[in-house]
Amino acid sequence: MYLTHLSLTNFRNFSRLDINVPRGTMLLVGDNAQGKTSLLEAIYYLSTFTSFHASHQRELINFLAARESIAVARIVADYQRGDKSHRLEIRIIKEENGVNNSRVRRELLLDGVKRKINECLGHFNAVLFLPSMLSIIEGPPAERRRYLNLAISQTDAHYAASISAYDKALGQRNALLKLLGERGGDPEQLMYWDEQIIQTGAYIIAMRAQALREIEDLAALVHSKLTRETERLRLIYRPSYDPYSPPANQIALPLDAPIDRTGFDKEQIASGFQEALLTNRDEEIARGVTTIGPHRDEIHFLANGIDLGTYGSRGQIRTALLALKIAEVAWMKEVTGFWPVLLLDEVLAELDPQRREDLLNHLDEIEQALLTTTDLDLFDPQFVESATTWYFANGRLKAQGPDHPKA
Ligand SMILES: Nc1ncnc2c1ncn2[C@@H]1O[C@H](COP(=O)(O)OP(=O)(O)O)[C@@H](O)[C@H]1O
Ligand SMILES: [Mg+2]
Repeated sequence: MYLTHLSLTNFRNFSRLDINVPRGTMLLVGDNAQGKTSLLEAIYYLSTFTSFHASHQRELINFLAARESIAVARIVADYQRGDKSHRLEIRIIKEENGVNNSRVRRELLLDGVKRKINECLGHFNAVLFLPSMLSIIEGPPAERRRYLNLAISQTDAHYAASISAYDKALGQRNALLKLLGERGGDPEQLMYWDEQIIQTGAYIIAMRAQALREIEDLAALVHSKLTRETERLRLIYRPSYDPYSPPANQIALPLDAPIDRTGFDKEQIASGFQEALLTNRDEEIARGVTTIGPHRDEIHFLANGIDLGTYGSRGQIRTALLALKIAEVAWMKEVTGFWPVLLLDEVLAELDPQRREDLLNHLDEIEQALLTTTDLDLFDPQFVESATTWYFANGRLKAQGPDHPKA
């Protein structure tokens, strides 16, 4: 799939931007703070309805516009998905709510019709690659769960709905556990919330096992090429509630034990999860918190059996991330049937020349990629010639086209 037109109004430092987006590769060139990342942020928002930078969507509304009592940041994208054209529009609306108070809400329109998030997810797919994403591998487990959640949600709205239902039920369950621990009461009150996290949780676990297995296969292949077949990458899913129980005489499994968790169906996982919750009930009441479930899942990246999160060198982590991102693109194509739009923010600057070349070679396949850079010299002249170059300054497009002299 690919964008054909993008229009931004009061989004970040763009008061107004209206562009026809060509198919193929685009280079967004500009000094720092000109709006390159913000443009990618807007496009990625179309795929996940969340920002990778802002902690609150209020931050996305242009500062100046936001001074008015009503302000609307708007992203309108026309895109082609196979032989169908669609339009997705997002409005982030700030309005007054009493004196000195405002609230922010959001409206989504798909092909002109107002829709809920879950009805819009999966219609526009993008893969994003930022240098700060090294934290997927070397950061805390929450980073890896977030990564996986965003990737799977784009292909499966039911997964996205399960995540938000699970989180909500988990919060309620924790509150009740705490109450029972402090004041006592009938533990059977937990039944309702148990059922909620069991049903949503089982689906989450099953989908994670499945997606990780598929992404691992693709990533291992790419990674093997990137390392000239010297390293073998593995993505290990370690669910907090694990449907796989090791043989009784085995105390702990080695990290890289080849266990296939894709064989469990949702009902199997649900009944095992329920049993585990009952077993842990007293302890959970004492601690006032839910101790097992997908909110505590872990994913390990191993290269030649070594946990990259703990022992990986910078170079190894970069290479594994590159493999993961290239795999994510291929995975999305496999699952949805369409190439996602690829968004690369300043990634080239972080890679050595060989890896840069490896990455650029993969761009040929996909339908559309947008790359930002402050320095056009990082790219091979032949590559620059084959791409469309846009120059950005102060939230405006300065010039467009491969013939434009370097800014
Ligand atoms: N809500 C906003 N309203 C106006 N300007 C903003 C808003 N949020 C961020 N900016 C500004 O937009 C500029 C563009 O940032 P960014 O997209 O990160 O640029 P680049 O990636 O080109 O370095 C920055 O100067 C930033 O301060
Ligand atoms: Mg930037």
